[in-house]
Amino acid sequence: MNTVLIQLLQIPVPKDIPLEMPLPHWLLVALLIFSFLLHILFVNLMIGGTALTLWAELLGLRKKEYNDVAIEIEKTVTLNKSLAVVLGVAPLLSINVLYTVYFYSANAITGLFWISIIPMVIVAFLLGYWHKYTWEKLRNNKSLHIAIIAGATLIYLFVPFIFLTNINLMQFPEKWASVDGFFSAMTLANVFPRYLHFITASFAVTGLFVFWYFGRRSYEFEKNIPGFSRYEIRRKAMSLAFGASIAQVVFGPLLFITLPTEGIDWDLVITIGIGVTAAVFAMVWMWNSINAEEHRMEKYFWPIVLALTITVGFMGTGRQLYRANALQPHQEVMAQKTAEYLQLVEEAKLAAESGEMEKAENIAMAGEKLFEQNCVVCHQEENRLVGPPLKEIVPIYEGKKEALIAWIKKPGKKRDDYPPMPGFTQLSEEKLESIADYMLKL
Ligand code: HEC
Repeated sequence: MNTVLIQLLQIPVPKDIPLEMPLPHWLLVALLIFSFLLHILFVNLMIGGTALTLWAELLGLRKKEYNDVAIEIEKTVTLNKSLAVVLGVAPLLSINVLYTVYFYSANAITGLFWISIIPMVIVAFLLGYWHKYTWEKLRNNKSLHIAIIAGATLIYLFVPFIFLTNINLMQFPEKWASVDGFFSAMTLANVFPRYLHFITASFAVTGLFVFWYFGRRSYEFEKNIPGFSRYEIRRKAMSLAFGASIAQVVFGPLLFITLPTEGIDWDLVITIGIGVTAAVFAMVWMWNSINAEEHRMEKYFWPIVLALTITVGFMGTGRQLYRANALQPHQEVMAQKTAEYLQLVEEAKLAAESGEMEKAENIAMAGEKLFEQNCVVCHQEENRLVGPPLKEIVPIYEGKKEALIAWIKKPGKKRDDYPPMPGFTQLSEEKLESIADYMLKL
């Protein structure tokens, strides 16, 4: 038995919710991977764009022309951040459906920080708008203006930490019992390398985006950023993408070797390997683009984007493979619990059905009561009263319940030495039946 399984047997494992998935499992997984990557693309651009705005404004303290760069980059953040938020809904829903128990548990453990994402992001948005619309107004109060965008940047840099801590924590249910809140969850082996990997990716993606954005024919570069040539800025942007990608050569392997081994298998290694290979192509083309003359730097752009799309696709898939592998032991134990639970439900149902017999007994008891209320005054067991004793009249109706009921409702005149019996038309069919059942059991 492996160590994870041993750990799992020592913690309380909940049962799953035995509901059908709304879509086939593979489709939900595909949706999760795709929608997550799309979301994260714009998160990258939101974080990278804000940080670059800050960076350019800081450079602007020395060389004023950089302020135009800051202003122009900042303009892109507004749309990118809206897309980041809107596109976050689909992966959040997908992961909730696929990993209900895991995602919920991780969120509950880091509760306060998890929920604080909302106010933090709101504040960052507001700071972003405040900064964007006060370039003129705060021209003579640069430190405040810079502090505003620095505040937004810091929040944007911190929020991914919470996400990554949660997403990491949900993969290791065996740790849930020993983890105590956000800070303790943050120290799990893999969180910091994941964070570095993510932030660096943000700068690589933003570098490429800026390269494209300022390169568009329709973009009036000379008018908007008169202090620089288009070539100069685009070369800087591509250099940023390249530098950040080179940093991944360190952070990527660091992330991989700090992954707890339980989720690593050959499928994962091959998937990541393909992603890395595509990234190597992308980096070579980035290098070529940086060193190309102006009219040739463009031609590498779409190959780079294609290669990185492959990289990101495979990395995203690898991420999912690892998660599935890491959670498998727990899911098996949970499936067993769920099966036990369903078994209990089934047994309880059977017990309830056998309770039908008890109900029948209740009816018989009701029959006895009804007999006492309506019949005992005239019918005793052994002795003759107004009517004949039961020992005489019951055998007559053995196996003839319907006839007995018919008699009670509307008795005939039978015995000469008895008065006629009154009919019981006021009793319901059900009650008549109970009485008949009771009598015939005697
Ligand atoms: C007021 C007295 C009285 C009450 C109350 C009464 N009975 Fe009778 N019952 C009689 C008499 C008298 C006879 C005999 C009638 C005859 O044979 O003509 C009789 C006869 C019967 C017979 C025999 C029928 C047969 O085919 O021989 C049955 C069975 C019977 N009663 C059932 C009941 C039941 C059940 C109740 C209660 C719901 C009941 N009786 C209430 C007076 C009563």
